[in-house]
Amino acid sequence: MKQEMMTIVSQQQLAPRIYEMVLTGKLVEQMHNPGQFIHIRVPRADLLLRRPISINQIDREKATCTIIYRIEGDGTKFFAELEAGDQLDVMGPLGNGFDLSGLKQGDTAFIVGGGIGVPPLYELSKQLTKKGVQVIHFLGFASKEFVYYAEEFQALGDTRFSTDDGSFGLQGNVGNLLLATQEKTTAVFACGNNGLLKTVEQLYGEVGNVQLSLESRMACGMGACYACVCHVADEPSKSVKVCDDGPVFQAGEVVF
Ligand SMILES: Cc1cc2nc3c(=O)[nH]c(=O)nc-3n(C[C@H](O)[C@H](O)[C@H](O)COP(=O)(O)OP(=O)(O)OC[C@H]3O[C@@H](n4cnc5c(N)ncnc54)[C@H](O)[C@@H]3O)c2cc1C
Ligand code: FES
Repeated sequence: MKQEMMTIVSQQQLAPRIYEMVLTGKLVEQMHNPGQFIHIRVPRADLLLRRPISINQIDREKATCTIIYRIEGDGTKFFAELEAGDQLDVMGPLGNGFDLSGLKQGDTAFIVGGGIGVPPLYELSKQLTKKGVQVIHFLGFASKEFVYYAEEFQALGDTRFSTDDGSFGLQGNVGNLLLATQEKTTAVFACGNNGLLKTVEQLYGEVGNVQLSLESRMACGMGACYACVCHVADEPSKSVKVCDDGPVFQAGEVVF
């Protein structure tokens, strides 16, 4: 079991209810694959279940990893009250992340995210650009005040934004952004709500490599409790666990 008390290096608010936390510890040595997540215990006796949060950035030289999370309920509210020097009980890295092996220098990748699905796409984009892949980001947020990491993504490649109210980028959702796109791509990587993932699945049926990161309610986070199962598309009697077999699946592989 990969588990450790990691130390908070820094914590800052990026947007309303959205925080970036940098953690340090030996677990960082195991972190390689974008799209994996860590499972964090809330240091409060009445909150028993760990909270799954995607790895946003890995810096092995500094032995740090970054997460970005949105306050949803008691657990994430508690995380937001912690300060540099505090410790968190972390399990991970867990799950199977994005598979970059099918891409080579000169290929193009569409990177598609919405809201709190955006964080893991940053480490993904960093690793793809390092390989010489040309990335195009399509990022959707509720409105301008909720946009974060705009400059960070722009520094890696072409970045297009949509907001529900049109206050930043195109008005509408990420699907509208994708429909307005002329370019062709080798692969598509997406993380966001089920509506966004379904749109990507429908639009890019002809692209051979479309990887979707699913969000599911989790308990154990490591394949033991069956809280996160979904059915295999071609064999409805078969199921997979999002925490252990995913959270990243090829489009068409599972029903969500
Ligand atoms: C693989 C994966 C990666 C994720 N990455 C991120 C991320 O990078 N940033 C981010 O802000 N959020 C992320 N989430 C969602 C995040 O786990 C939930 O928002 C968080 O657990 C809510 O906890 P809470 O105590 O604040 O809310 P509560 O609603 O009080 O949580 C109650 C219980 O439900 C579970 N739960 C609630 N919402 C979710 C959810 N959407 N997914 C899974 N379990 C949930 C909690 O873990 C907890 O056990 C991710 C979820 C998954 C499955
Ligand atoms: S959360 Fe327990 S099996 Fe996935």
